[in-house]
Amino acid sequence: MSARARNSCNLIEASILSKWTTASIPAQTGKTVILTGANSGIGYHTSLELARAGARVLLACRNQSKGEAALAQIHQQMPGAQVELALLDLASLASIRQFAANFLARGEKLDLLINNAGVMAFPQRRTTGDGFEAQFGTNHLGHFALTALLFPALLQAAAQSLELPRVLTVSSIAHKRGRMHFDDLQFTQQYNPWAAYQQSKLANLLFTWELNRRIHAGGLYVRAIAAHPGVAATNLFQSGPGEGRPGLRARVMRHLIGLVGQPEAQGALPVLYAATAPEVEDGGYYGPDRFFEFRGSPVRVTAESHAVDAAAAARLWQISEQLTGVKFVAL
Ligand SMILES: NC(=O)c1ccc[n+]([C@@H]2O[C@H](COP(=O)([O-])OP(=O)(O)OC[C@H]3O[C@@H](n4cnc5c(N)ncnc54)[C@H](OP(=O)(O)O)[C@@H]3O)[C@@H](O)[C@H]2O)c1
Repeated sequence: MSARARNSCNLIEASILSKWTTASIPAQTGKTVILTGANSGIGYHTSLELARAGARVLLACRNQSKGEAALAQIHQQMPGAQVELALLDLASLASIRQFAANFLARGEKLDLLINNAGVMAFPQRRTTGDGFEAQFGTNHLGHFALTALLFPALLQAAAQSLELPRVLTVSSIAHKRGRMHFDDLQFTQQYNPWAAYQQSKLANLLFTWELNRRIHAGGLYVRAIAAHPGVAATNLFQSGPGEGRPGLRARVMRHLIGLVGQPEAQGALPVLYAATAPEVEDGGYYGPDRFFEFRGSPVRVTAESHAVDAAAAARLWQISEQLTGVKFVAL
C-alpha cells in the first residue's frame, strides 16, 4: 500500500474511532473483569459501563466503605448488574497476594484485567507498606505483581474463550516527560513529586510492551494494551498534589483541570475502547484525539520514543521481579 493510501486509511480509521461512544461497546456477557481503583474517577465509570455491557466486574478497591458506595451506586443505576467488591491494596504485597490467591481459588478464568488504580505527586515522599516510594510502588510495582499473580487465570481464559484475554494498563501523557531513574528508582536521595509520578506512568508503558514482547515470544494468547484518559477532573488531583491543601485551592485546581480537560466519564472512554473494541491491537496505546490528547474521543496514540526502549523495559522487568519477589509463569 502506498504512503498516501495508508494515510487515507488512517484518516478514515480516525474518523470512525472519533465517533466511538459507550454505545459502541460490544456485548461483554460471559466475561469476567478485574478493575483496580474501581470506586472513583476513571475506574468507576469504566466499571459502570462494562457492567452495563454485561460483564461480571470485580471492583478491586482498597477502602471497604468507598468500595461499597461504588457498588451501591452501580446497583442503583443498574439493578441486576453483576458487580462485586474485593479488597485490594496495591501498596501492600501481602494484600496483592491475598487478593490474587482468593481469585485463583475460585477457579475462574479472567478475561480482562484493568490496571487502573493510581496515586499522583504526593507533596512529601511517602512509602508503601513494603518500603517502596508510593507512586512507583502503587502505580507500577503493585500492578506488576498483581498481573503476574493473576496470569494463570488469564491463560485459563485464553484456553476457554474465543476472544483473547487482555491486560490493560492505564498510563498518562505524564509519561512524556518521565524518565526511569535507574540510579534511584525510589527517590531516596532527592524526592521530586512530579518526576516520581512521570516515572511511574512511563513504567506502566514499559511494562505493557515488555509484557507484550514476552507474550509473543512465548506464543501465548493474551493481549497487553495501554491507554490513557487525557486529563479528567478526578479525585487524583486532590488526593495527590492537593493533599494537605483543602478548600479553595483544591477547588480552583479541579475547576482549572475541568476547563482544559474533560469530565470523568469522557476520560474513561479510551480505557473502555482499549478494553473492548475488537480492532484494538496487541501492544496498542489509546488516548483522546484532541488538544494534545487532553480530551476527545479514543484513538490510537503514540508514546514518546523513550517509552518504547526495549532495553529499559527489560531492565525494569528484572528489577520489578527482584523487588516484588513475584515472577510470571510461562514468561
Ligand atoms: N485524571 C486524570 O487526568 C488522569 C490523567 C492521566 C492518567 N490518569 C490515570 O488514571 C488512573 C485513574 O485515576 P483517576 O484519575 O480516576 O483518579 P482517582 O479518582 O483518584 O482514582 C484512583 C483510584 O485508585 C485507587 N487507589 C489509590 N491507591 C491505591 C492502592 N494503594 N490500592 C488500591 N487502589 C488504590 C483510589 O482509591 P481511593 O479512592 O481509596 O483513594 C481510586 O479508586 C490512574 O492510574 C491515573 O494515573 C488520570
